[in-house]
Amino acid sequence: MAVIEMRRIKRIYRLAAQPGGKRSQNEEVVVRALRGLDFSAESGEFVSIMGPSGSGKSTLMNILGCLDKPSAGTYTLDGVETTRSEGDAGDTLAQIRNKKIGFVFQSFNLLPRTTALENVELPLFYNRSGYNRNRKERAMAALKEVGLGERLYHVPSQLSGGQQQRVAIARAMVNDPAFILADEPTGNLDTEMTLEIMGLFQALNRRGKTIIMVTHEMELAAYTQRVITLRDGTLVSDIPVTENRDAAEDLAQWERTHAHLRGSPEQEAQA
Ligand SMILES: Nc1ncnc2c1ncn2[C@@H]1O[C@H](COP(=O)(O)OP(=O)(O)OP(=O)(O)O)[C@@H](O)[C@H]1O
Ligand SMILES: [Mg+2]
Repeated sequence: MAVIEMRRIKRIYRLAAQPGGKRSQNEEVVVRALRGLDFSAESGEFVSIMGPSGSGKSTLMNILGCLDKPSAGTYTLDGVETTRSEGDAGDTLAQIRNKKIGFVFQSFNLLPRTTALENVELPLFYNRSGYNRNRKERAMAALKEVGLGERLYHVPSQLSGGQQQRVAIARAMVNDPAFILADEPTGNLDTEMTLEIMGLFQALNRRGKTIIMVTHEMELAAYTQRVITLRDGTLVSDIPVTENRDAAEDLAQWERTHAHLRGSPEQEAQA
């Protein structure tokens, strides 16, 4: 089943001309950020979105994430046509977003001085669909799923960057969204933590989660199943990843070759 179905999506930004510029005052500058883009993703896919700066990735992310509406075209998310949502009896864009999308950002966006458990519980306060009674149990289960069952009461400053991103991933999953939308999720992490997070995404994807990830790095796209590339607001390629890499294997390899940097307790005892 298609989770995401975009047809002929356009996004035009209109800017008033600069006062004092060469153009007359009432002339507009029009930026065609997306020019009639078609994109769909099936349930269970792991897709990366690539493309040079200015190609329209953030614009596409904002529309995919129901943070913005296209100027033209249709976007159907999990059977709901989001482009028709506002104004009629249907859910607003914000309601669709809260129910159907789990966000993971480069900068984690966790609340400071708030425990991992409370951070993960947060989306459940906005979800009015009757899950609220077992909020704590659901948040605990999500944290266990990302391997943080032992860190429930730590606040973000007591967690490593990779652990903080795991909390953010648990928070993204706790509402059981139609898909996870990740924007450069490892942009602030070192190699080891990056491999850890990519391994977690791969594990979640094997359990059926649909993940859409924006990345600048081809190496990271190799952990996904399919790469779409944007250029000048159009989709210029859409290719399956043929040599899919396993992040857990790459992490194990990395740890073997870099063990000397960290120094095992045995090595330290010998020194
Ligand atoms: N709010 C806005 N108003 C006007 N123009 C915009 C706005 N946001 C983006 N643009 C323009 O739309 C085009 C696409 O921008 P977008 O931010 O989607 O690119 P991107 O692929 O995310 O780039 P990067 O890799 O640098 O983040 C660019 O030409 C940009 O200048
Ligand atoms: Mg961007």
